[in-house]
Amino acid sequence: FDFAAPANEPVLSYAPGTPERAALKKQLSAFKAEQVDIPMYIGGQEVRTGKTVDIRPPHEHKHKLGHFHAGDASHVTAAIEAALKAREEWANTPWEHRAAIFLKAAELMATKYRYHMNGTTMLAQSKNAYQAEIDSACEIIDFLRFNVHYLTEIYRQQPASSPGVHNRLEYRPLEGFVLAVTPFNFTAIAGNLPTSAAMCGNVVVWKPANTQVYSANMIMKILIEAGLPAGVINLVYADGPTIGDICFAHPDFAGIHFTGSTGVFQTMWKTIGNNIHKYKTYPRIVGETGGKDFVLAHKSANVDVVVTALARGAFEYQGQKCSAASRAYLPSNIADEVKTKLAAELKTMKQGTTEDFSNFVNAVIDERSFDKIAKYIDNAKNDPKAKIIAGGNYNKSEGYFIEPTVIETADPKYVTMCEEIFGPVLTIYTYDADKFEEALVTVDTTSEYALTGSILAQDRYAVELATRKLVNSAGNFYINDKPTGAVVGQQPFGGARASGTNDKAGSALNLYRWLSARTVKETL
Ligand code: ALA
Repeated sequence: FDFAAPANEPVLSYAPGTPERAALKKQLSAFKAEQVDIPMYIGGQEVRTGKTVDIRPPHEHKHKLGHFHAGDASHVTAAIEAALKAREEWANTPWEHRAAIFLKAAELMATKYRYHMNGTTMLAQSKNAYQAEIDSACEIIDFLRFNVHYLTEIYRQQPASSPGVHNRLEYRPLEGFVLAVTPFNFTAIAGNLPTSAAMCGNVVVWKPANTQVYSANMIMKILIEAGLPAGVINLVYADGPTIGDICFAHPDFAGIHFTGSTGVFQTMWKTIGNNIHKYKTYPRIVGETGGKDFVLAHKSANVDVVVTALARGAFEYQGQKCSAASRAYLPSNIADEVKTKLAAELKTMKQGTTEDFSNFVNAVIDERSFDKIAKYIDNAKNDPKAKIIAGGNYNKSEGYFIEPTVIETADPKYVTMCEEIFGPVLTIYTYDADKFEEALVTVDTTSEYALTGSILAQDRYAVELATRKLVNSAGNFYINDKPTGAVVGQQPFGGARASGTNDKAGSALNLYRWLSARTVKETL
């Protein structure tokens, strides 16, 4: 079985007059006209509890798209049992057959369901058409295809044999089930976490964020249509602590594939540690957590490159990418020009619903998030250490809208330079353009996170110095670009320090974590 490196799924433009724009608009209208009734999927059965939770667009929270059925402890237990029941058959299904199911799912997403994938992501996660296309179409399709490719390569790696001896490595799945806990901000990540583990022959209990259930349901339906056997992935909507309590106390718990907050991940890790004596095997703990991603400009940087990196890096998808630029370090020689141009650029960004394709900025995910971000902005308004130089307004009467906001501070340790906000708020600190080395130390020591970061410079020496000195400051490091938008197959994604275990999503490094190899020596 050979599966050559695939090409990245082409990104459709959705420009006015294109067929994809018309098709997506039609799908959005259809979704808005219906009331979806979303079940859990346990052991191949659709499960409806009657305990429903409404799904509403963050940019139009008075409209109801439908609801999903929430589960409780009994559904989590049932999901684990269904997974374990499916385990042996799935683990022994030939790789070629397993691979075909995920390749078929990718194909269905690329063709028949492209607008369903994007439409659900646009409506319930408030992601605009262009951002949805790179996430809920291209990135998830790429994850599936590239992971099949990487796994094919892994399975091929075999040890040497010698005369009279045949050695082999059997890449078995983990002994037990894997729990996938997935975030709202990327439909692709939500799809990747359960499927990458399942692809390796594991069985999975999948708990998505409540705010992503609308598109998670699409992914699940597509996987089923592609032929995923019952019980291999079980989608449950119970609250996090209930899922954690049951899964982490189970003797067959074999791994967690997580993307979410640092605090939740650390709590999980401690619970797993406390329960370690209960498990058959040491669980694999794989997590991508927070970020406080930086853009560092050098005095040689091109001003327009800096402005674009900040405008797009900080404010695409309302700053809710884990990779979003949220702290900027500008050299004193160009700082004023960058700030003026950035403020002007932000004024051109229209904000509103995702159904209006001319809007660059949409709503933040929910009221809790809105209130948290608004509080950071209010605090900055009232703090002599901070000054709002763009945006600063917010309004939740129709949707959770927060203006792209830029805070300026003379304190490199000001709270919004350090804490993850997960919203459209960028903080700028200006450093003495002749003290670049000092700025490098500040960048490295200000945040506990190390997810993404950018150095913007035309001077090669500055690029080289930053690349060396910031070696542990970002798992994804960009030279003369914004710190967002990693492409599967091109920039494997993940960070270290408080940002996670750095098991790069969309790479062999990640897939190895879901395999438990057996070495077999046969004397001939
Ligand atoms: N992979 C996403 C990005 O790079 C998070 O922006």
